[in-house]
Amino acid sequence: MNSDSSKTSAAWRTVERLVQGVQTSDGAGVRLTRVLTQQLQRRLDPFLMLDAFRNENPDDYIGGFPDHPHRGFETITYMIAGRMRHHDSAGNQGLLGPGGAQWMTTGSGLIHSELPEQEQGLMEGFQLWLNLPAKDKMSAPNYRDIPSAAIPEVVSADGVRVRVIAGSSQQLAGAVQRPVTEPLYLDVHMPAGSRFVQAIPAGHNAFTYTYRGQVSIGGTVVNDRQMAILANNGGTAVSIEAAEDARLLIIAGQPLNEPIAQYGPFVMNNAEEIQQTLRDYQAGKFEAAVVQSL
Ligand code: CO
Repeated sequence: MNSDSSKTSAAWRTVERLVQGVQTSDGAGVRLTRVLTQQLQRRLDPFLMLDAFRNENPDDYIGGFPDHPHRGFETITYMIAGRMRHHDSAGNQGLLGPGGAQWMTTGSGLIHSELPEQEQGLMEGFQLWLNLPAKDKMSAPNYRDIPSAAIPEVVSADGVRVRVIAGSSQQLAGAVQRPVTEPLYLDVHMPAGSRFVQAIPAGHNAFTYTYRGQVSIGGTVVNDRQMAILANNGGTAVSIEAAEDARLLIIAGQPLNEPIAQYGPFVMNNAEEIQQTLRDYQAGKFEAAVVQSL
């Protein structure tokens, strides 16, 4: 602990607010917790949504997410347990397994489905929506499947295992780097009694989501299935302590500071662009999308 408390408070991000999320269902009856809701989009710009799902009962996930369109942002699906198969309007498909991720840039639009590849057992994971800057919203769609083995990992002296999905941690570059929003997406596994420090640029919006155990950030306890919004207090790092075994996501990014117009699965900058999106969708333009696999 630094004895100069004014210096310490300037260096570390603190917890501004804890968020419990909202129980809901989406797709064909998949039960999930919407952790990052529409009301938080401005505060957590460039992130638009975070859904967490952890279902043991097949009735709560078996319907999956049948064919649906998207335009104007990126979806990042990260699996903890279970398997999901992806299909899109260009005929691409991929299988998401435990520890794997899929990074999809919906760009100008596509239609895809995400369906469970299992009939029983635990299905657990997350879907994050990351906004695209206005200039890239109509870019060509593409997607990338990232198997678990392709996600870089680093283990600290404290035994903290960090899976770097995007951005970088302790000089280790993650599986994905994106311009403009510069997203950081870490899955952090902390053994009891460990501490973990992650650099986060002062101007980036940041939050954590604990999905096992309990952690402490700047003296604030963050329980299982709680999001902690980190204060934009000028701090350039977050320090996390775990008294018990815990796992959490750390997510941060550079805000776009552009208008957000969301209509269901479409996220543009204004109402006219949403109207155009609906016309394009009705005209069948999304079915014809050429989706590149990177
Ligand atoms: Co989707």
